[in-house]
Amino acid sequence: MAKAALARAKSDSSDIAKPVLADAGRLKIEWADAQMPVLSAIRERFRKERPFAGLNISACLHVTSETANLVRALAAGGADVMLVASNPLSTQDDTAAGLVKHYGISVQARRGEDRATYYRHLAAALERRPRLTLDDGADLVTLLHQKYTGQIDDIVASLEETTTGVIRLRAMAADGALKLPVFAVNDADTKHLFDNRYGTGQSTVDGILRATNLLLAGRRFVVAGYGWCGKGLSSRASGLGARVIVTEVDPLRALEATMDGFDVMPMREAARQADILCTVTGNTSILRKEHFRLLKDGAVIANSGHFNVEIDLVALAAMSRKVVKNVRPNLDAYHLKDGRKLYLVGEGRLANLAAAEGHPAAVMDMSFAVQALTAEHAVTQAKAKRFSATVYEVPRAIDRAVARLKLATLGIQIDRLTAEQAKYLASWQEGT
Ligand code: ADE
Repeated sequence: MAKAALARAKSDSSDIAKPVLADAGRLKIEWADAQMPVLSAIRERFRKERPFAGLNISACLHVTSETANLVRALAAGGADVMLVASNPLSTQDDTAAGLVKHYGISVQARRGEDRATYYRHLAAALERRPRLTLDDGADLVTLLHQKYTGQIDDIVASLEETTTGVIRLRAMAADGALKLPVFAVNDADTKHLFDNRYGTGQSTVDGILRATNLLLAGRRFVVAGYGWCGKGLSSRASGLGARVIVTEVDPLRALEATMDGFDVMPMREAARQADILCTVTGNTSILRKEHFRLLKDGAVIANSGHFNVEIDLVALAAMSRKVVKNVRPNLDAYHLKDGRKLYLVGEGRLANLAAAEGHPAAVMDMSFAVQALTAEHAVTQAKAKRFSATVYEVPRAIDRAVARLKLATLGIQIDRLTAEQAKYLASWQEGT
């Protein structure tokens, strides 16, 4: 198809909010690309080798300029890609428009879309009968298992980007409900050790600061959950001078937080002290009525876990006399019946994507390099052997390749084992 006709077709199969922002979107995509040298090298290889020639791929990911570069890489490899949002509030409308107009990708995503629109877009992503799917939070795979079961056997594999999604998929597998092979991209070291820790750490602070412009130095900053995201957030908040308190349910993580130098206590104590409180657990109802009662007047609450279930918004609304939306962009004021005010960032959705731009491109470079190489692995290996309906780890070789490429782009060289060292590691006879 001629380029203009293709662009028209892609535009027809798209549903975006602000096509006029396409040129600004392209600039943002190019800016991110310059910070993503590993992914762009993969894209150029894909352009020559065409591993996805003729393949329909549907991706349900946050529609950001970083994701735009991932779908560009898949398209360069010959795929026909559709991108839909994995969260109603994380879509960058300019990026979506840029992808459609300048890169010929179908996008169905509008920032602030309601639930019905969100699911209409997911349905469109499945109705085009993809052979490979990419998910961030497993909503696409869940919908596939609920309403599109007849298509499951056509799908080579699905790739999952985030901790919450992997937890859901493992629960499906344990239940015997999972009907297709899934790759846990999140669990690759070059993903979660960097994206979850440094990406979430920095971008969550970024989101809270853009929404509030508060000074963190000297403030009591409560982090609920000390997984990789919680570790990153605690470290970055503390780096800006906040006095960090961690809450946990896991004894090992609580001990780790203690020895990392943070105060650890139950939420009922932490809530009394919090100036800012951010949930990042992946679990539900972390901040609820009993905690709202204890929070100080003026406290800021936020969530950076995948779903907006960590803060009980129904209870918060019920305790409120009125809610003033957007006292600042992405900040709502809840006027409680007892006279206190609590401030909620980004409607309780991921603060880093709702109130900022998500993780910086330099870290998404690794996450999306893993996605791109795992997509290639899934498609090429599926020809030789059928995967079964289970959750697969990303091959270690992909992790090591991404780490090596990233180091090379940073201009960092490392040592190699000498022959003597390799032999020593492989032996057991030598001791004291
Ligand atoms: N998840 C967190 N940050 C992101 C980003 N910048 N792009 C896509 N997904 C993300």
